[in-house]
Amino acid sequence: MSLSSIDVFDALESEVRSYIRSYPALFSKAKGSLIYDQSGKAYIDFFGGAGSLNYGHNHPKIIKKVVDYLLADGIVQSLDMATEAKEIFLKEFNRIIQSPRHLSYKIQFAGPTGTNGIECALKIARMAKKRPGIIAFTNSYHGHSLGSLAVTSNSYYKNSYFGIPGNTVFMPFDKYLGKDINTLEILKKYLDDCSSGVDTPAGIILETIQIEGGINVASNQWLQELSEICRQYDILLIVDDIQAGIGRTGKFFSFENAGLKPDIVVLSKSIGSGFPLSCVLMKPEIDVWKPGQHTGTFRGNNISFVAGTAALEFWEEETFEKSIAEKSLNLKSGLEEICQRFPDQKMTIRGQGMLYGLEILPNGFAAKVSRKAFKNGLLIELAGAKGSVLKFLPALNIPNQLLTEGLKIVKQSIQDVIKG
Ligand SMILES: Cc1ncc(COP(=O)(O)O)c(C=O)c1O
Repeated sequence: MSLSSIDVFDALESEVRSYIRSYPALFSKAKGSLIYDQSGKAYIDFFGGAGSLNYGHNHPKIIKKVVDYLLADGIVQSLDMATEAKEIFLKEFNRIIQSPRHLSYKIQFAGPTGTNGIECALKIARMAKKRPGIIAFTNSYHGHSLGSLAVTSNSYYKNSYFGIPGNTVFMPFDKYLGKDINTLEILKKYLDDCSSGVDTPAGIILETIQIEGGINVASNQWLQELSEICRQYDILLIVDDIQAGIGRTGKFFSFENAGLKPDIVVLSKSIGSGFPLSCVLMKPEIDVWKPGQHTGTFRGNNISFVAGTAALEFWEEETFEKSIAEKSLNLKSGLEEICQRFPDQKMTIRGQGMLYGLEILPNGFAAKVSRKAFKNGLLIELAGAKGSVLKFLPALNIPNQLLTEGLKIVKQSIQDVIKG
C-alpha cells in the first residue's frame, strides 16, 4: 500500500485525531510565529500549540541550550534522580519566579503532561485534608485522565463506561448565571448548610480564565472572595495554571493580578517551552507524600528542564512583561476593530494579556471562520462548549507585523464566510 501525506493518518491513525482535522496539512518546519507545511506554505500561528508555545516555535536561545546539552552527552532520562539539569531548573525557578513574588512552594514533578499534574494535585489535596470531595466549576477543563475528567465539566469528553471517579461537585463559575449574580453566594450557601448535600471538600479547583471553556475571565474580586472562602472553610485552593499561566495573561502566573497565593498550583504546557513538563507547586505544609508514594517513569524530563530554564531567563528581562502588555493592547484593539467592522455579527471579546476570545454567533460561524483562516494562512482554534469562540493564543513575543497580518486574515475570513 502506498499512501501519500495526509492519507497516511486517515488510514493508520485512530479516529480520535483532532487538530489534524482543523488543519489538514502535513507540517514540516516552524520558527517563531510561523509554521510551514510540506509545500513550503507559511501559516501564522495563533493556535500556539494550545498554550504550550508561549515563546513561539524553536526559539533560538532555547534550542541552542537544548542542542548544546545533548551534544555534551547531557542526561536525558533519569526518573527522579538528581541531575544537574534538574538542580539548575529548581534553583532558577526559585530565584527568578518564586523569590520576587514571595512564594516558597515545594515542587513536585508529575508525569509529562498537564493531566498528570492535575491527578497529583487532587490526590495531595485529598491526602492533606483527609477528605474525599473536590469542588470544580461549570465550563471547567482539566484534562482527560480519569481524576482530571471528574473535575472537567464538558459532557462530550465523559462517558459513564469510563468509570470516572466521583466525589466531585460542580458550582457555577463567575458570571455563569449572568453578570449581576455573585455565584459565590451559592457556593457559600451550600458550604454553610449541613443539609445541602455538599460536604466540605478537600479542595476547590479552578482556572482563573477558563480557556477551553470559552475564555471566561473570573474577576479579581470574585477570585479574592473565593480565596477568602477557602481560608474560612479550611479548603485548599487549587489553581490550574496549565494554559493560562507562564505569561499568557501578562504576568507569569494568571492569579498575580488578583494577588492570590493558592495552596496548590499546577503548571505544564509552556513551562517546558514545547517540551513535556508538568509541575505541581504546593505549600510546604501540604507536602504530606511519603517517598515514592506517587511516582511515574517520565517525571521531569531533563531536556524539558534545560528548555524550561532557558525560558525562565526571559522573565529576568525588565522589558519582557512590558512588551507583552504592549502586544496585548495591539491584539485587543485589532479585535475591537473587527467587531466594529461587522456590527451585524454581534461579536463579543473576552480576555486578558495575549489570551483573547472572540465569540461569534450563531453556532457554527466561528468554525467556518477558523477553516477559512486556515486556507488563508492562519492557524486559529475554537473554544467554548459549542465552539462559538475563536481563541487567540499568539506567542507572547510575536512580531507586531505578524500579529497585524494574522488579525487581517481573521477579518478577511469573516468577510469570506459572510459572503458565503
Ligand atoms: C486548563 C487545562 N488544564 C489541564 C489541561 C490538560 O493538559 P494536557 O493536555 O497536557 O494533559 C489542559 C489542556 O489543554 C488545560 O488547558
